[in-house]
Amino acid sequence: MSAPDLGRRALLKGGLLGGAGAFTLAGAVASSGAASEGSAPGTSSTGTADLVVPFHGEHQAGITTPPPPHAVFVGMDLDDGVGTTELGRLMRVWTDDISRLTAGVAPVTDQEPEVAARPAGLTVTVGWGPGLFDRLGLDDRRPSWLAPLPPMPVDDLDEAYGGTDLLLQLCSHSPVPLAHARRLLVGAARGIATPRWVQPGFRDPGEQAGLAFRNEFGQVDGTVQPDVADRDADLLWIGPASASHPGWVGGSSLVLRRIRMDMEDWERADRVAREHAVGRDLATGAPLTGGEESTPVDLHAVLPSGLPVVDRHAHVRRASPHAPHERFLRRPYSYEQVGTDGTVETGLLFAAFQADPVRQFLPVQRRLAEGDLLNIWTVPVGSAVYAVLPGCAEGDWLGRALLV
Ligand code: HEM
Repeated sequence: MSAPDLGRRALLKGGLLGGAGAFTLAGAVASSGAASEGSAPGTSSTGTADLVVPFHGEHQAGITTPPPPHAVFVGMDLDDGVGTTELGRLMRVWTDDISRLTAGVAPVTDQEPEVAARPAGLTVTVGWGPGLFDRLGLDDRRPSWLAPLPPMPVDDLDEAYGGTDLLLQLCSHSPVPLAHARRLLVGAARGIATPRWVQPGFRDPGEQAGLAFRNEFGQVDGTVQPDVADRDADLLWIGPASASHPGWVGGSSLVLRRIRMDMEDWERADRVAREHAVGRDLATGAPLTGGEESTPVDLHAVLPSGLPVVDRHAHVRRASPHAPHERFLRRPYSYEQVGTDGTVETGLLFAAFQADPVRQFLPVQRRLAEGDLLNIWTVPVGSAVYAVLPGCAEGDWLGRALLV
């Protein structure tokens, strides 16, 4: 497997493979004990099974890492009576377990070490929710923006998918190490934190060969993104000037919206209506104002009739930034929830990373909630906001600077 095979599209669109997004092979890491950032993977007889995304670094992995096909988000609440000492213990254990699991090395408690040996690019990203700060009285360390999003007129939220004290985002090229790591990390938290929800998601494995991600509506999704590897890095990472506490420098935030998609109704709409709802061509993802997928949308273009080419309520118009800071990194996964009665709910686990969700994400979300044509077919049913911890160096542990 060569480097361009991994997220070639993401690379082309701005080099998402920086820092903790670089890949190497599990065997090499296990034997040398250190992941060499930036090293291109060699050839592997086991496909993606041996891939390792380095864990240690300024930022956690799983944010700028090109999204692999499988993900699971786990929301957990602290158990009653848990204090900062127990949280610190959990963070130390998780850091150790995650650094091993992502490197293809089984933690000591692992009963299936052979599964751990094939991480398939596993990343685990840890976040803290608003409730954690309330429970532990850590107000002086709470980021000012860390709160649930205000209610939106389009919301039909189910508390079963609401905000939790802790978040684990696990991603991998294979669902096997993903399930294994989830079980192990949830098990390691026993007596300290308990899962409230587990939300699996998927993307197209074809993306690894350069194909565009298509959401369940069949739309090319993920075209317009900030250049977070370079000039827009400040949009993604908490810097010293904006950090409420020095322990947050290098961290980020995650807004996770579970959005149900009404497939039957969508499929009843004709293609023209569907393309107007977004403002892009369904087949190619190109703007309705012409060009190819990467061509910027011309929001000023008008038809001979004087009407705008891109509808006033088209998704891309409503979502486009009104100021340069109203941008964020979108890293969504599709979901299917299979009921015991044979019904299937389809949707999008809309995951957005940014330094400050109130400043960057909220204005866009408000515009969409007020008048996005896609609202005809979509309903947000879950919503949660997390502060994503900075990464850590070898020998250190996630969240230490905030707890000691
Ligand atoms: C099920 C729900 C959603 C679907 C199906 C959807 C689909 C799409 C599609 C097809 C595009 C055009 C291609 C691209 O640039 O990626 C797009 C763009 C975008 N979407 Fe969404 N989206 C959804 C929800 C959201 C939400 C909740 C937000 C933020 C609050 C959002 C923010 C954006 C942004 C910022 C863009 C780029 C706009 C630009 O061209 O500047 N989307 N979305």
